[in-house]
Amino acid sequence: MYAAVVRSFHTTPKYEVFDDPQPSGKNEILADVLAAGLHTRVRSQANGSHYTSTDELPLIPGIDGVGRLPDGQLVYFVAPDTSFGTFAEKTVIDLRRSVPLPEGVDPVLIAAAMNPAMSSWVALQRRIDFQPGHKVLVLGATGNSGQMAVQIAKLLGASKVIGAGRDQERLNSLAALGADTVVSLAGDPEEAAERLGEAASEVDIVIDYLWGKPAELAMLPMLTKRTDRSRALTWIQIGSVAGPTAAVPSVALRSANFQLLGSGQGSVSTAGYVAEFPALIDAIATGKLTVNLASFPLSKVEDVWNAPSNLGQRVVFIPTFR
Ligand SMILES: NC(=O)c1ccc[n+]([C@@H]2O[C@H](COP(=O)([O-])OP(=O)(O)OC[C@H]3O[C@@H](n4cnc5c(N)ncnc54)[C@H](OP(=O)(O)O)[C@@H]3O)[C@@H](O)[C@H]2O)c1
Repeated sequence: MYAAVVRSFHTTPKYEVFDDPQPSGKNEILADVLAAGLHTRVRSQANGSHYTSTDELPLIPGIDGVGRLPDGQLVYFVAPDTSFGTFAEKTVIDLRRSVPLPEGVDPVLIAAAMNPAMSSWVALQRRIDFQPGHKVLVLGATGNSGQMAVQIAKLLGASKVIGAGRDQERLNSLAALGADTVVSLAGDPEEAAERLGEAASEVDIVIDYLWGKPAELAMLPMLTKRTDRSRALTWIQIGSVAGPTAAVPSVALRSANFQLLGSGQGSVSTAGYVAEFPALIDAIATGKLTVNLASFPLSKVEDVWNAPSNLGQRVVFIPTFR
């Protein structure tokens, strides 16, 4: 089969012939891959920097996708934790990590949207007691996952969604996705944090894709301007594009009902994720979520990998096109 193959963590994956991976055990099956997304997590898998990475090479990147089983059934699946991922014509699927897709659904749409959408969907449904009517701030709303989070918070019943990010053009587009207010994080970081304090001090939930300085600086302005500091503010750490660490002021934790937790692979079980897939797939397939994507044949993997990324847009590879 053809696959995108990583032979060094310092170079781009190359499109080359590779042996078919072999299923083992009763839950595994070899399937055709129809579409697989180039998620942020896949880039960190391919350069060896993700927290789940082992040093094993060669590896085929790709953590999820849409596949066709030998009996013709279309499925969305999350790849098993091996070095043979989904950027290939064939991959091994663990049936316990897959769900059937309705016939007629666009594989590219599902492959683009599931990973970024899952980040906020699972956080709101599995990590906290989210209630319709809650007010939500999405920190990093201009990224692909952030754009989905704005829509998902609204879809699940948030009464107000505030989107914060740097890129003005994408901030402007958030209103059409359901954002009630946007806050620019461009310019001086301390001034941006003050703007967040003004606009978002009454939210119940923060969905944070940034972490680093933007998160660190925003905590106190948001908490000190709150009318009732004993009302819970739940901050869900999901991504870290602005930095892997943030100094949390101790006073934030004792002077307010400030709850800090994360959501991702490990803090939610695989079974917990899989249980959320059908409802999320339905929301995507029925057009309740707008997906910002661009698709390419897998044979173009090297060019696409090295091209400047169109920020906020999710690339999907189609292995069956050469
Ligand atoms: N835990 C999970 O379940 C899960 C799932 C999916 C993704 N994630 C994580 O979520 C994060 C975002 O992923 P994504 O797919 O949305 O990525 P993305 O589409 O590449 O978006 C990243 C955005 O981050 C913004 N950004 C980058 N550096 C920044 C900085 N220093 N300050 C402020 N904004 C900054 C940029 O927005 P501007 O253009 O406005 O600057 C960029 O568009 C990643 O860390 C990813 O690993 C986690």
